[in-house]
Amino acid sequence: MPVVSTRELVGTAVAAGTGVAAFNVITLEHAEAVAEGAERAGRPAVLQISENAVRFHGGRLAPIAAATLAVARASTAPLALHLDHVVTPELLEAAPGEGFGSVMFDASALPYEENLAVTARMTAYGHRHGVWVEAELGRVGGKDGEPPPGAHTPGVRTDPDEAAAYVAKTGIDALAVAVGSSHAMTERTAALDHGLIARLRAAVPVPLVLHGSSGVPDHEIRAAIAAGMVKINVGTALNTAFTGAVREYLAAHPRAVDPRKHLVPAREAMAGTVAGFLGLLPG
Ligand code: G3H
Ligand code: ZN
Repeated sequence: MPVVSTRELVGTAVAAGTGVAAFNVITLEHAEAVAEGAERAGRPAVLQISENAVRFHGGRLAPIAAATLAVARASTAPLALHLDHVVTPELLEAAPGEGFGSVMFDASALPYEENLAVTARMTAYGHRHGVWVEAELGRVGGKDGEPPPGAHTPGVRTDPDEAAAYVAKTGIDALAVAVGSSHAMTERTAALDHGLIARLRAAVPVPLVLHGSSGVPDHEIRAAIAAGMVKINVGTALNTAFTGAVREYLAAHPRAVDPRKHLVPAREAMAGTVAGFLGLLPG
């Protein structure tokens, strides 16, 4: 089916009081698994490629973007293409030409004023090219091997008043917030600050995005959506499923050499994980 946009999926989810899950794509098998899981669950989904994944592909966006776009077009599920955690302006500028309807520009490592200034510039660029722009305020943390921030670390959680001003001044379409989740968790033990989610929801006029959802238990994800989170980003859970299946196959078949033999269970495991997360969404 034709590729849909994140703007459309998020808008429909907001109107229906539900969420949209967005899954990180690293390899072709990830994209195929997201499409398969979305078809099985009868749900739309966002396929997102991070700047780190682009770096893994030798810094070349076009091949993995084209493959992911082709998977989305061949699927019977409504799928959108999103460029995630972009820190390099030139990569954001390449997004519209490679079929991305949305981008997350991540200046969250910068001091507030610098984050605001560069995000406003990148948002204006995105909007001139019809791209929906997400940005982050606060620090979800845990990316690139960085240790997860402590629950009481100052400046980590997103401040509602600062968030309202940031959204007004940057013109972004969605805000990624730090409310207790952390990237790259392999155990689902994160506890979210639901009071803060409610305060952010009341203060911020654009949809809120939960990053690091792999580490968030089912009931916390459901509660976060009920409190106003809309886009639910999942990455590591797919890799845990992929690598676990490969490890199991190779342990049982130590002489195997054909990658298709272990990639089939790996892709199947990821599709099951995708369908599981999609099954958490209300509506
Ligand atoms: O932007 C991507 C997500 O925040 C993925 O985080 O790998 O911890 O699920 P995760
Ligand atoms: Zn993230």
